[in-house]
Amino acid sequence: LGQAGKLPLQVLIAAPRGFCAGVDRAIEIVERAIERYGAPVYVRHEIVHNRYVVDGLKAKGAVFVDELDQVPDGVPVVFSAHGVPKAVPAEAEDRGLDYLDATCPLVSKVHRQAERQIAAGRHIVFIGHRGHPEVVGTIGQVPEGGMTLVETVEDVEALEFAPDAQLAFLTQTTLSVDDTAKVVAALRARFPGIVGPKAEDICYATSNRQAAVKQIAPASDLVLVIGAPNSSNSVRLVEVAERCGTEAKLIQRAADIDPAWLEGVGTVGLTAGASAPEELVREVIAKLGEWRAVEERTLVTAEEKMTFKLPRQLVD
Ligand code: F3S
Repeated sequence: LGQAGKLPLQVLIAAPRGFCAGVDRAIEIVERAIERYGAPVYVRHEIVHNRYVVDGLKAKGAVFVDELDQVPDGVPVVFSAHGVPKAVPAEAEDRGLDYLDATCPLVSKVHRQAERQIAAGRHIVFIGHRGHPEVVGTIGQVPEGGMTLVETVEDVEALEFAPDAQLAFLTQTTLSVDDTAKVVAALRARFPGIVGPKAEDICYATSNRQAAVKQIAPASDLVLVIGAPNSSNSVRLVEVAERCGTEAKLIQRAADIDPAWLEGVGTVGLTAGASAPEELVREVIAKLGEWRAVEERTLVTAEEKMTFKLPRQLVD
């Protein structure tokens, strides 16, 4: 027994974890917009999929809405990091709204590729999760009918294009690296002429966080992933840990942890999705420390130096 009679608990923390450069930038855009234009600043959709972040920005004067028609005339509006269909900025312009685009530059890059493939006369097979805002935004970059969504290898088998059809594929940025490789392989097998990005479009932050979980999960009895249920990259981290054979739980805050989960557990692996702030990692460690004598260790599997520029309106 360790301090105050508590059982020891090793906490193995993944690095990289938590905020990516796109999330950092999106939050900074909202904060700077509030400073520059004064509250309220409207934000279409959760700026990033994390309630703690959203509540923090609400307290500073951000107002979150689902659609542009909920934004009154004459106030600035920010589009979320996930990106928006082309119709959204077009409508904002029609209404004369000042808008700031917090779309992650790595998502915008996929948007431009989509336009390019359509201009080259290709139909796009898009690998992503139906209904996720990034997918809605990317599909909304091209004329209707220009893109077909696939989620799985089975979806690829069901495609009805001729083997020599002019096709390209693109992917959502926050997918499972391993699953996507299988879907891409199935596409290339069925449509040998399909054109695609050199690597898939899964972003550096998503792949680094998945690789980091692969390192901590085998050494852990339980993996805790801090993230929201609608955060694609966070849900993928849970799957990666489970595929290593380790039980894993998605939690939003420390309060979600059931102490019964820790019974018989000697090592907890800990990580956070790209939209989860470091404060929540500290909160979880503090909570674990209420029950057990925590010894934390960080396992660094990659260094991240990525940063993205802010929109021009906010820097000059
Ligand atoms: Fe961008 Fe990847 Fe983060 S696409 S918002 S850097 S998870």
